[in-house]
Amino acid sequence: MKFKAAVIGCGRIGCGFDEDPKRKQVSTHAGAYFFNSNIDLVALSDVNEDFLKKYSQRFSVPNTYTNYKDMLEIEKPDIISICTWNETHHEIVKVAVENGVKAIFCEKPISNSLDNAKGMINFCQERGVILMIDHQRRFDYTHQNIKNFIKEGKLGRIQQASFYYTAGIANTGSHMFDLLRFFFGDVGWIQAHKSNNFSPNEKDPNFDGLIKFKNGVLCTIQACDVKNYLIFDLDIFGTKGKISLSKAGFKVEYNEIIESDLFSGYKELSQTNCPIKEKSRDFMVDAVKHLVDCIINKQKPICSGEDGLASLELICAFKESAEQKGKMISLPLEQSQIEINSK
Ligand SMILES: NC(=O)c1ccc[n+]([C@@H]2O[C@H](COP(=O)([O-])OP(=O)(O)OC[C@H]3O[C@@H](n4cnc5c(N)ncnc54)[C@H](O)[C@@H]3O)[C@@H](O)[C@H]2O)c1
Repeated sequence: MKFKAAVIGCGRIGCGFDEDPKRKQVSTHAGAYFFNSNIDLVALSDVNEDFLKKYSQRFSVPNTYTNYKDMLEIEKPDIISICTWNETHHEIVKVAVENGVKAIFCEKPISNSLDNAKGMINFCQERGVILMIDHQRRFDYTHQNIKNFIKEGKLGRIQQASFYYTAGIANTGSHMFDLLRFFFGDVGWIQAHKSNNFSPNEKDPNFDGLIKFKNGVLCTIQACDVKNYLIFDLDIFGTKGKISLSKAGFKVEYNEIIESDLFSGYKELSQTNCPIKEKSRDFMVDAVKHLVDCIINKQKPICSGEDGLASLELICAFKESAEQKGKMISLPLEQSQIEINSK
């Protein structure tokens, strides 16, 4: 079965990252559609005509549009990708649903406010449209294996976790919160304080904080300054060993427990061969394969609109807690007037 796909927003994640010689795997929505044999990439839309010209050639796309509404009406795609900034997502989802799309692959953060995110989920639910959010690590084989390793009890009881990130609570935090929910489940409460460490977007600052998951795991959240280096690191201390993620969260290291050679009667952690199966980072290609499977089998995606909303709730809760001097805030956050800006 063949599906018609179209991309709205042909910037970095829509099309451009595939020009980066350091990115060895397909890293864009257009690239992932181009390489999927079940998909015809029929159109691109962007307000930037230079991008349309360049990327329609690169990905052999027959039609381009500066107005995405025209594209939806004329092309009637089955699948669209929304790769514009988050304040536009709500309106694009509404128009796409009205034009009969079957599935939407939407960039993170899901939207700019809780109300708009809920609206997007409702539009899609009412018309049976699949809404999948691009928190990429959920589509990644290695991260799925880490989740299963924890779920099967191979790390024992999780004693503590700590996360280090850079570049904004909405921008990077969206991925961080989703990955933590993927591993540890729903959140009970959070506390947060504004960080002094620089974020490139002054409207999307960094925050430090604490997350208590409903399963009892406590995780510290600490921001660093992206001007020094990019970081997306997680340490998980289980009673049977330790997992560490580094290199944007894609390198996995494992520590086993051994007898201490320093102190009698104590044990310590020691790095050893990683028992978690790893694979190259093909998450964009795998995400699109998953979306096609979801359409065919009428399944909910591994990263749904509700997952996007839960991540946005955590972003808003961190901001609200910091505004109230680290007040403890319970999740889910039913309401928030906070508007986020993740540019
Ligand atoms: N999942 C990830 O790892 C990841 C990585 C990068 C960006 N993102 C997310 O993707 C989104 C876009 O980020 P980016 O870095 O690609 O931004 P970008 O600025 O490079 O691209 C956005 C594009 O949208 C276009 N655009 C704006 N309004 C439009 C409209 N009405 N119709 C059609 N096109 C329009 C712009 O001209 C631009 O080309 C953001 O929400 C960002 O958080 C996610």
